[in-house]
Amino acid sequence: MILVTGGTGLVGSHLLVKLLQNNEQVKAIYRNKESLKAVKLVFEYYNALPLFDSIEWIKADINDIPSLETAFMGITKVYHCAAFISFDAKDKDKLHKVNIEGTANLVNCCIDFSVQKLCHVSSVAALGDATENEATITEETEWNPEVLHHDYAISKYAAEMEVWRGFQEGLQVVIVNPGVIFGYGFPDKGSSSVIQSLKKGNPFYTKGNFGMVAVEDVVAIMYQLMNSAISGERYTLVAENKTFQEVLNLIAGILKVKKPSIYANKVFTSFAWRLDWFLSKLLQKERKLTQASARAAHSTKQFDTTKVKNTLHYTFLDMTSYLKNLVPKI
Ligand SMILES: NC(=O)c1ccc[n+]([C@@H]2O[C@H](COP(=O)([O-])OP(=O)(O)OC[C@H]3O[C@@H](n4cnc5c(N)ncnc54)[C@H](OP(=O)(O)O)[C@@H]3O)[C@@H](O)[C@H]2O)c1
Repeated sequence: MILVTGGTGLVGSHLLVKLLQNNEQVKAIYRNKESLKAVKLVFEYYNALPLFDSIEWIKADINDIPSLETAFMGITKVYHCAAFISFDAKDKDKLHKVNIEGTANLVNCCIDFSVQKLCHVSSVAALGDATENEATITEETEWNPEVLHHDYAISKYAAEMEVWRGFQEGLQVVIVNPGVIFGYGFPDKGSSSVIQSLKKGNPFYTKGNFGMVAVEDVVAIMYQLMNSAISGERYTLVAENKTFQEVLNLIAGILKVKKPSIYANKVFTSFAWRLDWFLSKLLQKERKLTQASARAAHSTKQFDTTKVKNTLHYTFLDMTSYLKNLVPKI
């Protein structure tokens, strides 16, 4: 029996479909029944709604050990997709609690319940920092603690340390490090919020790079890794490295809306996140642009995915075709 955490999120919900389509027996944790509605929509998207009823849903929180222990009864494999994603400095403590302590709890349960194998979803944010001589970031690039990292990246890096601890204690583990994930569902979160902002007429673009990948590729690779003899390895999952400008223009073209035409340079974005901070305090509103996301908008990072391509002989989906199909449905 497989346990999935984060089954009510983007990666977890698509993973649930994948597992059930492969006739796996699956338990998934949830915290709030409301969140199951979004999962059903993902199953509908794949014409797989009848499979939804095969999931054994258990109410549990990764920060609540007794509830986790109940969920772990009879489990042989675990996919850990639950996490808290935020680039707002005010969320530092929650990032620590959910991503680091939550992962530690999960690893401890895997060991206590003699689980065979754990797949942990990390992020490219937890990969290392390229030096001036390195053109791209690989799984071997070293994390440099002297480089300024945002709290989400630190929490994902430290969560990986908990997984490596489990590996040292005898647990079989694989880690995936996806870039920005695009996929159906959850229209107001993550990559989909970029699509929504273009629909609302966002006029700004930057020339920074980012790595992106389709959720279908992420879950297919996770499943393949878990059904292999591979253990103690991590894999960068990036289908393509693109600039924000390229992707915004592509999506705007698909939506038939005006392409963003105002270049937001570093001076602009560093002013903008401060203004956003001030307005969020004044109007008691959620932050839209943080220092971390402003910095990421000018990133020059390029990610190398030779390892996963060679190990699994995997070919990623073409992101232009993928987005042409996905964007009108969001
Ligand atoms: N989305 C991306 O672009 C991206 C890119 C790289 C890496 N990742 C990583 O991929 C993984 C999945 O991300 P996602 O995009 O699927 O995130 P998501 O859509 O925000 O889903 C997060 C999931 O975690 C669950 N969760 C949060 N706190 C929890 C807790 N204390 N106990 C139990 N469950 C909890 C949420 O449950 P509720 O529904 O109850 O809130 C939800 O199911 C994360 O590890 C993330 O860091 C994501």
